[in-house]
Amino acid sequence: MSRIDNERRARRQARIRAKAFSGGERRSDRLLRQMVDAAEENESEIGMGLADRISRKLGPKGRYLAAATLIGSLITAASIYYERRMVDTAVRADWQDETLVAQGHMLYRDNCAFCHGDTLEGQAGWDGDFPSGNRPALPLDGSAPIWRLSDDDIFDVIKYGGQPFSPRSYKNNMPGFEIQLTDPGIWALVAFLKSRWPEDVRQRQAELEMERTGGG
Ligand code: HEC
Repeated sequence: MSRIDNERRARRQARIRAKAFSGGERRSDRLLRQMVDAAEENESEIGMGLADRISRKLGPKGRYLAAATLIGSLITAASIYYERRMVDTAVRADWQDETLVAQGHMLYRDNCAFCHGDTLEGQAGWDGDFPSGNRPALPLDGSAPIWRLSDDDIFDVIKYGGQPFSPRSYKNNMPGFEIQLTDPGIWALVAFLKSRWPEDVRQRQAELEMERTGGG
């Protein structure tokens, strides 16, 4: 490769990098590195055999367009992959994820502690008999039978409130947070709650969920 070719290549790579790193999106550095490496690798293949002939036919402008198209699709693929991964992680209530749990803790203090207590202890008298509703806020620390609810159930109760899941004659005072909280925020809350349960409560919930879904 001639010196001019090398210089052109270096300039093009600088442009790719500039393009990849602009746009303000929060893509992971590792992914960007892979993306840029893949683009560079592909470029170094141009200059061999069939690719060489095609590339010569395309001319400098055509080559640039081909590279731009390739890079464009790489960027698209990388951002789709990254977004999928974000959704995937946000959709699980991983109680061992310290960042998620810390975020859930903050949301809990701001939105839930008022009724459910600073230490998730709930309100006095929660285990009394309330045939027509108005039960006080239940403990969320695992001392009430919260294990009967799956992660999805807990998510739904937080998002839509308790009423949709209660008989019409029953007045459920758990409000819904659909407007105040985002879905990832609600998953963070579920993760936080689960992080405060004793291990046997988490196990009981998992076993029940396995029975329900027919697994295990
Ligand atoms: C205005 C008071 C109030 C606030 C604020 C509140 N809750 Fe509740 N919550 C209740 C009451 C009351 C119940 C019990 C409803 C019933 O069983 O009739 C309840 C029930 C629940 C349940 C179901 C527990 C079970 O075992 O059935 C969950 C889960 C829950 N709340 C989570 C939350 C979370 C998380 C927040 C904050 C985002 C929150 N709550 C905010 C009053 C509140």
